[in-house]
Amino acid sequence: MLDTIPHYFYSVIDPPNKEDILYVLENAELTKQQECSWSKGCSIQFERLDLEEDFHSLFTPSLSQFFQEIQIDARNLKIQLHEVWRNTYQRNYFQEVHDHLPLHLSGVVFLTDEQEDDGQFFFYHKHYSEVSKEWRDVGLFGDRKIVKAERGKVLLFPSHMLHGVSIHRSDNIRRTVAFNLRFMTD
Ligand SMILES: [Fe+2]
Repeated sequence: MLDTIPHYFYSVIDPPNKEDILYVLENAELTKQQECSWSKGCSIQFERLDLEEDFHSLFTPSLSQFFQEIQIDARNLKIQLHEVWRNTYQRNYFQEVHDHLPLHLSGVVFLTDEQEDDGQFFFYHKHYSEVSKEWRDVGLFGDRKIVKAERGKVLLFPSHMLHGVSIHRSDNIRRTVAFNLRFMTD
């Protein structure tokens, strides 16, 4: 039976309250503070959202499903929203490979469906450089895993996972909302 050492995993959730999530994320107010240190390393339109009040009720069903899937009992885990922001991609925009440390759990909500030549979200396998040429030649899984954008789907993953968005080579507008969560374990 095939098994893996699962420190790197993700789930794409189809939330039961998809329409509510989309409505709130597409109509959210922006925070007064719009500064972002990391966005200078990317080509992207960044908008910080003010969602303090709505976040937990909106995302509790998705988070419950996620913890159920990874078989972790999170009923007593306090989870705090650290930040949430909306990304808009136009032609040639991209996001370089990065992680969301020191935060703990990260998410992406796709607001648009993927179309031809759009930028694609991908996870980057940080240990791929250790894989020998022979294993690569025989077809071992490559350095990237693409997650297809589907409107209303919620992608959740540990914040230590490297990821990026490839170059957006179309004139479609691509939109996502991303967020970082903190586990309050002390
Ligand atoms: Fe990211």
